[in-house]
Amino acid sequence: MKGEQEFWEIIKPIWDDERVQSMSKYIQHGKVTTLTHSLRVAKLCYQLDRFFHTHCDKQVLLQAALLHDFYLYDWHQKDDDHRWHGFHHAEVAVKNAKTHFGIDEKTASCIAAHMWPLTLRKWPRYKEAWILTLADKLISIKETILRK
Ligand SMILES: [Fe+2]
Ligand SMILES: [Fe+2]
Repeated sequence: MKGEQEFWEIIKPIWDDERVQSMSKYIQHGKVTTLTHSLRVAKLCYQLDRFFHTHCDKQVLLQAALLHDFYLYDWHQKDDDHRWHGFHHAEVAVKNAKTHFGIDEKTASCIAAHMWPLTLRKWPRYKEAWILTLADKLISIKETILRK
């Protein structure tokens, strides 16, 4: 990937964190772990920003991308709390990201809006949020199709 070095420089402090690495314990789609999924989404965000010259705040974009599914549970396990996973996990990710990394409001807003339009009232307010919600959907569709 073009800009690979810059990409890793930006994500390194978060990537190296053991709570982030613990996302490798959870399955996102098919056989893909949440950690792999989040890295793929972050890479696609970085590439889309370069390709479309959207001049995003890369710190915000990549932090939000890496932490957008930082909810830290297995959503396939039957549990009343997990029943509304699609609607609620972004909020859980925001809470965890604030607690563990002290992310700013812009980054929090991008994470909160990544499931839009499912979460109607949490719409993307920044270009970083639009890129994240697009990248997440593209990667999720690909991961869901390829599992078959
Ligand atoms: Fe998500
Ligand atoms: Fe995701």
